Amino acid sequence: MISNTMLQALNEQINEELFSAYLYMAMSAYFQDKNLSGFANWMEVQALEEFTHAKKFYDYIVERGGRVALDAIKKPQGEWKSPEDAIAAAYGHEQHISGCINRLMDLALSEKDHASVAMLQWFVTEQVEEEASADAILSKLKMVSGGNGLFYIDRELGKRVFSAPAAKED
Ligand code: FEO
Repeated sequence: MISNTMLQALNEQINEELFSAYLYMAMSAYFQDKNLSGFANWMEVQALEEFTHAKKFYDYIVERGGRVALDAIKKPQGEWKSPEDAIAAAYGHEQHISGCINRLMDLALSEKDHASVAMLQWFVTEQVEEEASADAILSKLKMVSGGNGLFYIDRELGKRVFSAPAAKED
């Protein structure tokens, strides 16, 4: 069993991950509206990944005998000043999520909850990648700022495909 404090914190993280999916869908819609279908595709894949993150927490709670409790998902922002502004917001959001994961890890360590520490380690590693990929797009956008390089970045981001996580073996 996990502690009530840990259970509540994990349930709150499900909400954070589902909000992330919602935010990236809003960003995808923003990019669709700007005829940047590559950026829209990248955001859609990102949203699908976020749903798998939420599901990982969901499955873990069930596995530990806890009760999943879903809360309302807040309304995401829908407009940004520019593609660079939206990607900067995505990068900032990933830094926020890294902070959430770190606080969960601190809690697991303080409770000597080794199973949660092991589960959260995956997310610690994942967040390094999440921040790096948003930051990489942001750096490219800064380089081409105002130029027609945006078209090439859009074409590159259009190649991202969602790969569902491998099914868990029992
Ligand atoms: Fe689930 Fe993008 O962190």
